[in-house]
Amino acid sequence: MSTVIAITNQKGGVGKTTTSSALLAALKQRGAHVLGIDLDPQGSLGFCLGLDIESCATIYDVMRGDKPVREVILETDSGDILPSNILLSGAELEFNRPGREFLLKSQLDELQDEYDFIIIDTPPALNVLTVNAYVAADSLIIPMAPEILSLLGVSQIRETIDTVRRHYNSRLRVLGILLNKFNPRLNLNREVLELSEQIAEQLDSKVFESKIRASVSVAEAPAHGESVIGYAPHSKPALDFQSLVDELWGRQFPLPDDSD
Ligand SMILES: Nc1ncnc2c1ncn2[C@@H]1O[C@H](COP(=O)(O)OP(=O)(O)O)[C@@H](O)[C@H]1O
Ligand SMILES: [Mg+2]
Repeated sequence: MSTVIAITNQKGGVGKTTTSSALLAALKQRGAHVLGIDLDPQGSLGFCLGLDIESCATIYDVMRGDKPVREVILETDSGDILPSNILLSGAELEFNRPGREFLLKSQLDELQDEYDFIIIDTPPALNVLTVNAYVAADSLIIPMAPEILSLLGVSQIRETIDTVRRHYNSRLRVLGILLNKFNPRLNLNREVLELSEQIAEQLDSKVFESKIRASVSVAEAPAHGESVIGYAPHSKPALDFQSLVDELWGRQFPLPDDSD
């Protein structure tokens, strides 16, 4: 059985795609079989990992039932990827039949035995694509930028989670809030931490101990078609993502020994 995690926040620029690619790469490095699914019509996950997303078949073809899911999966250094591109932006209008919330889940059920982890990158919206991600997932990770203003607005995510739990997927839970672009000197103020802890509490969850520090290597990595884990393994954010994996699955997926 795969563990399916959606990386979600209806705000853009908080680090959803960065977190998705880093988790994929870190888990793959530890020997897990991983699949990343891009549900954002901007196609950033595949693009950042070096795929030519303009010309390939995508998750859109799979959700429409036009292509078998296995035919659309592409290999990258950071794991297998089901890419997306701008064609997926018509989903809200096009996927309008009953059962539209299950389009992704029904495809993933076929892959359950092939992957240890399936990580879903989501769009900066709470729409039919987000709901498809929440229905297919076991759990959610919510990256946030540690500034007071960007921490507001979580009540909308909570409503979406509650709706999905009530109607489609009662086992959905929030693994935690991930503070990203974290500057320990500037950001570690009580207000930010207290507010993020309050938000986590509202979601029956917690703020991860691991916080992802800011570094230019995160912005540079996509130009090399790699996650920050592959591009700059010793950078602060790469080390922080490794400690997040330790925090979540430490004993199950130990870091490979540096000496081998
Ligand atoms: N820890 C970090 N340090 C520096 N830049 C970051 C960090 N996390 C994300 N970024 C930058 O912020 C921008 C938004 O990140 P991204 O992962 O694309 O967010 P989202 O998918 O939520 O829109 C990108 O330009 C990315 O390079
Ligand atoms: Mg993104």
